[in-house]
Amino acid sequence: MAKNGKTIYGLPAKSYTDLQFWKTECNTVLANGWLFVGFAHEFVKSGDAIPVKIADIPVLLIKNNTNEITAFHNVCSHRCLKLVNEKKNVGKIIQCPYHSWIYGLDGSLKASPHFGGTNNHKPKGFNNSDHGLKPIRIHVWHDWIFINLNGKAKKFKEYAKPLIKKFDDIDFKKLKYAATLDFGKINTNWKFLIENFIEPYHVQFVHKTTTNQPLKDHYTIVDGICYGSGVDVKEEDNKNSSALSVTSRYLSLFPNFIIGTYFPNQVGVYLNIPISPGVTSQKRIIYTTDGQEMTKEESNTVKKIWWSVHKEDHEMCERLQEGRASPASDRGGLLSPHWEKGVQAFKKLIIKATMKSSKRLKGEKNVQRNK
Ligand SMILES: [Fe+2]
Repeated sequence: MAKNGKTIYGLPAKSYTDLQFWKTECNTVLANGWLFVGFAHEFVKSGDAIPVKIADIPVLLIKNNTNEITAFHNVCSHRCLKLVNEKKNVGKIIQCPYHSWIYGLDGSLKASPHFGGTNNHKPKGFNNSDHGLKPIRIHVWHDWIFINLNGKAKKFKEYAKPLIKKFDDIDFKKLKYAATLDFGKINTNWKFLIENFIEPYHVQFVHKTTTNQPLKDHYTIVDGICYGSGVDVKEEDNKNSSALSVTSRYLSLFPNFIIGTYFPNQVGVYLNIPISPGVTSQKRIIYTTDGQEMTKEESNTVKKIWWSVHKEDHEMCERLQEGRASPASDRGGLLSPHWEKGVQAFKKLIIKATMKSSKRLKGEKNVQRNK
């Protein structure tokens, strides 16, 4: 059924359901590269802080005194309590509610009240400079915030090159926020949402009432860690303005960034936050790319269409997750040699990242045994 007559399988079922695999994935797939975690436009003033739990790690995103968005591990240096619990403006300092340790917006420790005894704030040998918040590598690309948890990824511009070069024709500096769709938690593994986005095969069946893009006009795109699909629709064929019957590109950058361009002037970006093997949260931001503001009516129409499209996808992704409980799914589903090339590329990247780690772990165990 495929090239060389070989059947192509997807990832095995346990990569979507197994807790052990999830932990490996958190330490590899989600830690090695640039992970998409938020939107810059949500940070307006210095002190604006958003806690994000991603890859099982509590992260704090905060706008500092020089109006840069920075990232820290969201734990107090004293007893490792999760510092900021909800989206808020923290003012000029971050204060731990437990024993009132205080940090500046740059993460430096400012106060450790009575830590050495009453009125002795600094016991002998205690230096504030050793106990600031632990920073996380961050890069803000236009409105999109990325972090690199293990600190070892290539520079963002180099890492994201295959994606960036595909948008040479769009001036992202003209990007204007138009609308937010917050879907909250979806009962599916994050990889199903990515896979669903990058394959065009389902569009004609799942979105037959919401879109009007014939399958035959779609093409797939695979370029290293960037993959997805595109469809070119002639403008004269675009008779139904309420349906998505327009030229589009749907691309993902490994591991979790998703962007779709919708001719002539719209971009949608989804934030998929992996929460646990079977739960992911999702938010979509819609922008215009020609500097135009959307009217309330236009924005409501666009929101309505996209709400329906996402809900159609979510149902499929939740059922994919449920299907993984069956022993018939152990080997993973089948992948189309033609339409699901992006899913194949994504699968290979997941396997490469997680296999390296299990080989390393095995190696470490052997070393310990030989001691
Ligand atoms: Fe879809």
